Amino acid sequence: MLAAELKVLSALLRGQPRSGSHAERLQAFYAPQAGHYDRFRERLLWGRERLIAALPCEPGARVVELGAGTGRNTEFFGERLTGLQSCTLVDLCPALLQQAHLRAARQQNMVVIEADAAEYQPAEPVDVVYLSYALSMMPDWTRVLDNALSMLRPGGVLGVVDFYVDPVRHGRLASWAWRRWFAHDGVHLGADTLRYLPTRLTTLRLVEHRAAVPYLPAVRVPVYLFVGRKA
Ligand SMILES: C[S@@+](CC[C@H](N)C(=O)[O-])C[C@H]1O[C@@H](n2cnc3c(N)ncnc32)[C@H](O)[C@@H]1O
Repeated sequence: MLAAELKVLSALLRGQPRSGSHAERLQAFYAPQAGHYDRFRERLLWGRERLIAALPCEPGARVVELGAGTGRNTEFFGERLTGLQSCTLVDLCPALLQQAHLRAARQQNMVVIEADAAEYQPAEPVDVVYLSYALSMMPDWTRVLDNALSMLRPGGVLGVVDFYVDPVRHGRLASWAWRRWFAHDGVHLGADTLRYLPTRLTTLRLVEHRAAVPYLPAVRVPVYLFVGRKA
């Protein structure tokens, strides 16, 4: 257990490489920690269960997660998962998708796709799309959100939970420090996504929170949870 923890911590300390394509950098960053990703992120990624609970996933719904990683979030659906028509997990990183494939092998309606979230399109419109701590790792986030909206049926729902910082709300110095720290691991913090979402969707839920950070008891990082409906 200690060895697993050290593997994740050393990957986080090394950070993402600066060279290579976006997909190559993700793979280099996540491959050494993929087997231990879920356990560590349980303590870091606030609100994932809450986001899934807030999504209107009725029996027969088609659901897509963009930037799904290991597919851990599918377990938050509980019994609702088997009733879905499909739950499609899209990610660019083969090392994390290997873990997602292990989950999909036990769940016949789960589909795992290696693709860029800015480009993937399902064969038919879907009812729900969600991104959990993924948008902040996608440099092309406007294209990703526009793509997510284009795959949603009218009246469909988009959910996002993620880190962010806003210099006006959180102070310029703190925002600068958070940005630098997270950028080391390829996470780009800003308030742009949170500002953009309500301009494209009708807001159903918006929660802002300060989340705990493992090993840093005095520290709280800003996060938001957004759920919105497409017109
Ligand atoms: C912090 S992880 C979150 C994984 C998962 N959603 C969760 O909540 O545990 C961010 C994920 O976004 C993926 N990702 C980053 N850019 C991507 C892109 N352009 N297309 C698809 N996935 C991407 C990464 O590979 C990684 O799995």
